[in-house]
Amino acid sequence: MLNVIEKVLDDDEVCQFRARLEQVQWQDGTATAGTLAREVKRNLQLDEHSDTAVALGNHLLRKLGNHALFVSAALPRKIHPPRFNLYRDGGNYGAHVDSAVMRLPGTQDSLRVDLAATLFLCDAADYDGGELEIEAGFGVQTIKLDAGDMVLYPASSLHRVAPVTRGARLAVFFWIESLVGDEQARALLFDLDRSIQQLAPHMSAQDPALLRLTHVYHNLLRRCAAT
Ligand code: NI
Repeated sequence: MLNVIEKVLDDDEVCQFRARLEQVQWQDGTATAGTLAREVKRNLQLDEHSDTAVALGNHLLRKLGNHALFVSAALPRKIHPPRFNLYRDGGNYGAHVDSAVMRLPGTQDSLRVDLAATLFLCDAADYDGGELEIEAGFGVQTIKLDAGDMVLYPASSLHRVAPVTRGARLAVFFWIESLVGDEQARALLFDLDRSIQQLAPHMSAQDPALLRLTHVYHNLLRRCAAT
């Protein structure tokens, strides 16, 4: 399942992010790529331990923690600290898969990579190319969003970033371990939760059918999260 979540960051926040990212020193992205990915990765990345990366990353994580749609779609257990990248001058990232397990920086803990997220920090019209191409079950999905918008997709999918042939593409990306590792179960829970949220305003909070549906959702989540 692929989810687009619009306006995770508002216009003011996007401006603040961009202003801070204009001050930083970018590094060659191959430094953090695995052996295979290194051959296809042509981009710039921000040092994940830098003050800017930590401050902006934490701001985004706080925002996501209160974002009902994100929480419902991802059911996050752990989130890898967000990273920032920049593509320009033909920069691109050829087809690759993300690692299945990652170490959480600064800890002995690791994260099973269930979902990947990319939040765009430039409007689609401001640069040419730079589409995120994801090989999903229904063929290749091409994603290019406006600033502040985010896509959430299965980390198991093969994906690439097309060459940026004009302007620059600035983005934040991160990985999520979900409470529900099974993608189909997570998609069903998301649909059920969304339906409940859409029905609720039209019904009494005491409506027995609504209560039962909510009960079913939480008990399904309890079962799915336990495995
Ligand atoms: Ni990737």
